[in-house]
Parts: sequence; C-alpha cells; structure tokens
Amino acid sequence: MKRYTEQAPGVMNPARIDDWVRPEVRELAAYAVPEAHGCIKLDAMENPYSWPEELAGAWLEVLRHVLLNRYPDGEARNLKDRLATYLELPSGLDLLLGNGSDELIQMVGLTVGGPGRCLVAPEPTFAMYRRIAKITGLEYVGVPLKSLNFDLDGAAMLSAIQGRQPVVVALSYPNNPTGNLFDRGLIAEIIAASPGLVLIDEAYFSFACGTWIDELSRHPRVLILRTLSKIGLAGLRIGMLIGAPEWLAEINKTRLPYNMNSLSQASGAFMLTHAEVFAAQIAQICLERQVLYQALAAMRGLQVWPSRTNFLLLRIPGRADRVFNGLRHQNILVKNLNGQHPLLADCLRVTVGRHEENEAFCAALTMHLCE
Ligand SMILES: Cc1ncc(COP(=O)(O)O)c(C=O)c1O
Repeated sequence: MKRYTEQAPGVMNPARIDDWVRPEVRELAAYAVPEAHGCIKLDAMENPYSWPEELAGAWLEVLRHVLLNRYPDGEARNLKDRLATYLELPSGLDLLLGNGSDELIQMVGLTVGGPGRCLVAPEPTFAMYRRIAKITGLEYVGVPLKSLNFDLDGAAMLSAIQGRQPVVVALSYPNNPTGNLFDRGLIAEIIAASPGLVLIDEAYFSFACGTWIDELSRHPRVLILRTLSKIGLAGLRIGMLIGAPEWLAEINKTRLPYNMNSLSQASGAFMLTHAEVFAAQIAQICLERQVLYQALAAMRGLQVWPSRTNFLLLRIPGRADRVFNGLRHQNILVKNLNGQHPLLADCLRVTVGRHEENEAFCAALTMHLCE
C-alpha cells in the first residue's frame, strides 16, 4: 500500500491538513457560543422580552400556511416590502437581505476581497469584521481608537486610508463593544477620503437615534447595515444592506440561492406589521439601560461607560476574569472582553436585560467586588 510519506517532494500530503487548508482559515478558531441553558443571558445583545400571548397565537397561525415542501421565495419579496416600509427606505436606494447582517458583511467581502486588498476598521470593534476579512481574502487593518473615551482617532484613520487605500472601511455606529457613536464630522472626512466602500453598521440604530441613511443618496459608495436581531428577532436571522442599486446588484451576485428561509420570511413579515411592540420594548430597554448604568456607576472598583446601545462596557481593574468566572458560576452570562484587545483590558460587556435580571447581575457583581 502506498504510504503518504513516500510522496515526491513538492506534492501536497493528503494526510497533512496544513498542506490543504488555507492558512487564514487554519489560524482561526470556530466561532464559539457558550451553552446558556438556564442562565440569565446578558452576553449577546438580545432583546430580553418575548411577545404578548395573543400575537404569538396569530403568528403561529401564519406559520401553519407556510409550505415547507417548497423552496422559499428567492427574492423574499413580501418581507422586503415590509422592511422597506419599516426602514422608511428613501427612494432611489435598494435593499439586500442576508441571513443575519453577518452574512451581508461576508457578501461584501466576497464581492471586493482578493489579494492585495484590505479592510480598515477602528478597533476594538465588532469581531466579525476581522474574521470575515480573513475568510474572504482581505487583509485586516485595525486602527486603535483613542484610549480614554474610545473616540475615533481621525488622524490615524485618515493616514491608514491614505496609505492602504482600503476596498472597505467598516464602522460600527454605534460601536460594539464600546457603545459610543463616533463623531459625524470625522466619519464624513473618512467617507471623503475613502477610495472604496464605507460600510456603516447600524446594528444598534434603535437604541441610538443616529443614522447615515439620509446621506446615502449623496454618497453612493456608502452602504448601511441594519439587523432585526437587536430589536427582538435574533432567532430569525434577518439582516439588511441598504445602498445604491448598482452596488447592491454586484453584491447580490455572491448571495447563495434562498438565503432567507421560509419561516423567517413569514415570521419577519408578520412581526413587522406589529412594530409597535418592538418600539415599546426598545423604549423599556433604554429605560433599563439608564437604571443599570446608574447602579454600576455608583459601584466602587469598576468603571462604566455611557452607551447608545443595548449593552454597557465595564472595566474591573485586575479582576475581570475572576468576576466573569464568578458570575458564570452563578449562571449569569456576560461577555468577557479581557485579552481581546489592549484597550479592552479588564473589560466585560453586559447586555441590558429585564429589570429583575439586571438586579440579579448587580447583586452578584457587588458580591464579587467585595471578595
Ligand atoms: C455591530 C454589529 N453588527 C452586526 C452584528 C450581527 O448581527 P446579526 O445578528 O444580524 O448577524 C452584531 C451582533 O452582535 C453587531 O454587534
């Protein structure tokens, strides 16, 4: 029997994964999601509220009529129409749907990625920009935010854009995980200086009340990303890319057929006819954010930043890992950011939950801070 080790020099060895898997993929770890059963789940920026019982009944009735033996509507026409109304999509702009906004970031990468091309992003920011850049053959260039308040470093961003000529600049607005809205004047300068696409990710738009959507008609290379995940439909995986039809037509070529499944299309369309439910829940989350922020700001031994999102970033000098593990032990799940970026040393990110969940978190945190 022929043994792999007997192959001629220069021939790749079928037994060695390293020979075949692209090095960019080999060096990644698969995206890990912790088991959350039975936990107070404050780690993923979800909406903690569910739907009123009578609406849940009406929704199930809609689902009863979905034909699961057929492929979905490949263009998701009904959902798209409802979304255009919900987003108050300005005329002249188009909408592309993704299986979550993550998929749309990937489609952008697949459209413009390739050797010698790069994506610039301020950091720390949403981790998927780096991961997707790598997977789609883009070099990732991170430009540190200012250390005190996580503002954009305008000079550093402009210099990176000038020097690297990126095909994409990705800006999370507001930024995950720092929670702040970057300066609009600086973003305008970045748009003016960028040779390629500027992707403005407005995943947390509903909690921030700031958008670039009205600027799109003046800037055809700017694309806006939105998602239904943060307002209460994370399980449906519905993301939207908004921009000039010419750009979206190109990006659409990278989309796999039927990327939006039938149940998500039907559920999303139904739920958008009851958008007032989301509006009330978002208002409640913003109230709870304020209460939680004040409770954390009053604690000794930690620092908390104001937030325009549905999460708060906190720093617990020297004790973040210990506190994170202690909370985990009590079935309270937050995100440990310590070690992810030098600017996030000793940082945890906590999603705003229901009032009682936030209280349980604060009580547990107080206990760990006293240890
Ligand atoms: C800035 C930002 N963009 C996009 C996403 C992904 O959203 P989706 O659930 O639509 O894939 C997240 C999720 O945390 C995010 O923080």
